Amino acid sequence: MSKKIFSGVQPTGNLHLGNYIGAIKNFVSLQNDPNNFCIYCVVDLHAITVKQNPFELKKNIRETAAAFIASGLDYKKSIIFNQSLVPAHAEGSWMLSCIARMGWLNRMTQFKEKAGKDKEKASVGLYIYPVLMAADILLYDATHVPVGEDQKQHLELSRDIANKFNLDFDSPNFLTPPEPLIQKNFARIMSLKDGTKKMSKSDPSELSRINLNDTSDQVLNKIKKAKTDNDPLPDNQNELSKRPEAENLLGIYSSLSDQPLNTTIKEFSGQNFSSFKEKLADLAVHKILPISKEINKLLKDENFLDNVLIEGAEKANQIASEKIKQLKKIVGF
Ligand code: AMP
Ligand code: TRP
Repeated sequence: MSKKIFSGVQPTGNLHLGNYIGAIKNFVSLQNDPNNFCIYCVVDLHAITVKQNPFELKKNIRETAAAFIASGLDYKKSIIFNQSLVPAHAEGSWMLSCIARMGWLNRMTQFKEKAGKDKEKASVGLYIYPVLMAADILLYDATHVPVGEDQKQHLELSRDIANKFNLDFDSPNFLTPPEPLIQKNFARIMSLKDGTKKMSKSDPSELSRINLNDTSDQVLNKIKKAKTDNDPLPDNQNELSKRPEAENLLGIYSSLSDQPLNTTIKEFSGQNFSSFKEKLADLAVHKILPISKEINKLLKDENFLDNVLIEGAEKANQIASEKIKQLKKIVGF
């Protein structure tokens, strides 16, 4: 069956190994299946739901596009663009915000986490963030959305919005409820400093994550300093699941070498961390460095990156503006 894929990544700073393994690596495999039509968006409208420095934002939009391309996304095969260049996203988001219910948004755990204790001070944009995400997806009739586990609830909201719209306006199948595509393995890459915490852009410790534009010395150093425990590596998955740091590092190795976790467990069972870390560091440098070099090369050519995004936006706009036209007609404008 042919799939229409849509996904987005926020341009909010350095992309890291978690983004690569949890998201971008899958975007590339999906793109390389000729049955799929893929659209990948740098979601800059989402980024401004929290305060951004305009200069940094511009830089981060280009950097995210560069990371997409350097990781293997091909702007000739997939549509790659940034959200703010296509007005339909903001317009669709408004119309869908009149469908979504306060009660639905009040249940969103990401808002609760991001807004923290002082909800009154969170932006209204942060609150309706998931409605904008629904517009992103529904405007393109995307059937499948590759995301991390943390976005599952937002996908369910997109489905609820699509179904309610279709019902309220008696327009069955006009909006397509999307299916999430959540990887079974390695869906959560953890911090190198704490195997129980997600690897994240916002972690104050640089040693907690490997950035996609790190140098080989940085990658080697971060793996060398990664937290471990004192036992030799286990010989089965059950034992491994009780040791978060070991589980994370073996998971990273498995994903980067495209081999099942059990094969990796067999390969290193009984060995100590220092010899495993040497192998992991070699592999990580081998996989990350070409990406890092390519990102840095692409960033030198701002015109090229801007043009990829503009041309992608033209293609996206053709699809999304047509959907908005139909949406407006259905609503009664
Ligand atoms: P974010 O950086 O939170 O905007 O996330 C961009 C994409 O990367 C989303 O699909 C996330 O689910 C995914 N992602 C972010 N951090 C991780 C992580 N530590 N492990 C796996 N996937 C992640
Ligand atoms: N909310 C997603 C995240 O933080 C990013 C995103 C925005 C997205 N719009 C999307 C993901 C549409 C998939 C589809 O990771």
